[in-house]
Amino acid sequence: MSGRAVQRIEISRRALLHNILEFRRLIGPRRKLLAVVKANAYGHGLLEVAGLAAGRGVDWFGVDSVDEGAALRRAGIQAPVLVLGYAPFDSLEEAVAADLRLTVYNRETVARLAGLAARTGKTVRLHVKVETGTWRQGVAPRDLPAFVRGIRRRPGLVVEGLSSHFANIEDTTRHDYPRRQLGTYRAACRALEAGGPRVPLKHMSCTAAAILFPEPGFNLARVGIGLYGLWPSKETFLSCLLDRKEPLSLEPVLAWKARIAQIKKVPAGADIGYGCTYRTTRPARLAVIPVGYFDGYDRGLSNAAHVLIKGRRAPVRGRVAMDFFMADVTDVPDAALEDEVTLLGPDGRERIAAEDLAALAGTISYEILARLNPLIPRVVV
Ligand SMILES: Cc1ncc(COP(=O)(O)O)c(C=O)c1O
Repeated sequence: MSGRAVQRIEISRRALLHNILEFRRLIGPRRKLLAVVKANAYGHGLLEVAGLAAGRGVDWFGVDSVDEGAALRRAGIQAPVLVLGYAPFDSLEEAVAADLRLTVYNRETVARLAGLAARTGKTVRLHVKVETGTWRQGVAPRDLPAFVRGIRRRPGLVVEGLSSHFANIEDTTRHDYPRRQLGTYRAACRALEAGGPRVPLKHMSCTAAAILFPEPGFNLARVGIGLYGLWPSKETFLSCLLDRKEPLSLEPVLAWKARIAQIKKVPAGADIGYGCTYRTTRPARLAVIPVGYFDGYDRGLSNAAHVLIKGRRAPVRGRVAMDFFMADVTDVPDAALEDEVTLLGPDGRERIAAEDLAALAGTISYEILARLNPLIPRVVV
């Protein structure tokens, strides 16, 4: 490991480009591929991922906030950028200046954007979110026609997209709920377009939906976790097999590495770490690893996960602290100070998967990745 950093996150250019091609193949040439790069590109590094993906099969980027969108613009990304999250009133001026597309569902936001469009002479492109049963952001279908008319009346505002989001597609192999949401969305689109012009972009698909419901009606797919090389869930993989679809080949993009800060011998009967939650049953060798829950190594991994050193597994002993944890390297006798430790990713024939850490920590792979501290250096390899 080069440089002064005690840890780093490696981003595989090859794996990312491979996954992009898999989704391009899946959605076909006529649909746009939006890479969801919110949450620091699911922990992979916003600018690193956008820099690799722009112009290489990804047409759009999706961010959570105006700040993330503006950062993409400052980095020279010219592709369309859609803000998926909430843009507060005091961020709208910057959003318009950076030519970001905004997801809208409040009349107050639309009114302020109309004022900005008039003042700056710019065209502001909006994607109206339709509430179909997730009960997160969105305009109720019965209010949609009036909401859209209200936008179209304002010079400078354009309704470019109609979006929605599935609530229960990853957690189950039963897809009656998402099918109902799909029906609600389609009916809302039909009702809107019966009385007015067509809306150019329709989008509702996340990774699981892009795989399971390659609906011809959609012309943009918002793909996050799949581009990073992970299946959204076991259920999505299983549903794909049950539907007799050939599963995509996805390759994890991220590896997380640190180096050993100290090697020490401990006697049998030693209580390791805060709370003395692990007691050695034999004389052992411990590696002190300078990574903790501040970095995103979940405290739920205490006494549960493994790390990889020289291609071998070493179990985590004791509690994960804010900046340190310990691993037992008794069975890796050649482990030495400053040796590389793989916390996530492959080493030789072994691999630590984000899904495995998630299961141990009682969460999902998305959270394991998204909570990787943005301060850890990201390196494209
Ligand atoms: C609105 C929206 N679209 C798309 C996605 C991408 O989902 P996935 O990572 O499952 O592809 C997300 C992720 O949470 C989202 O919130």
